[in-house]
Amino acid sequence: MNVQRRLDEVGMACSSCHQASNTPGPHRPPGAPRWGLAPREQVFEGKTPRQLCEALKSPDSNGHRTLEAIQHHLLDDPLVQWAWAPGEGREPVPVPRAEFASAVRIWIESGGLCPEDGQ
Ligand code: HEC
Repeated sequence: MNVQRRLDEVGMACSSCHQASNTPGPHRPPGAPRWGLAPREQVFEGKTPRQLCEALKSPDSNGHRTLEAIQHHLLDDPLVQWAWAPGEGREPVPVPRAEFASAVRIWIESGGLCPEDGQ
């Protein structure tokens, strides 16, 4: 599907079609609470691992979240959890949830250390 931010601008909210949970059946809209695109400042593309790490920690680009709130968002938010249960005909994200959760906890416990560029 060609997902575009422009939909909102033309007055069609994602929630016109997407519900709070997956609509059963092939090619039906997936869903989760507060379905929508992440804000522009949270785009991952083109960032080095260090830039991505810094952006995740920066209140200006992370929705004013503390490290604790980032952990809660990544591990408990139903919209993020949807990635491991995307509904019929879709593949979950390639990293197993338990592995992701463990990596998030280790990172948070480190105080949110960021890699040097090139690592
Ligand atoms: C007019 C109805 C409609 C609107 C509005 C809409 N979607 Fe969808 N969306 C669908 C349908 C139907 C599917 C399932 C398509 C399929 O599986 O073939 C879908 C699928 C998706 C998928 C899964 C894509 C994939 O690769 O399987 C994402 C992500 C998505 N939409 C995000 C959004 C976002 C974010 C918005 C708002 C900016 C939005 N959609 C607005 C109908 C809509």
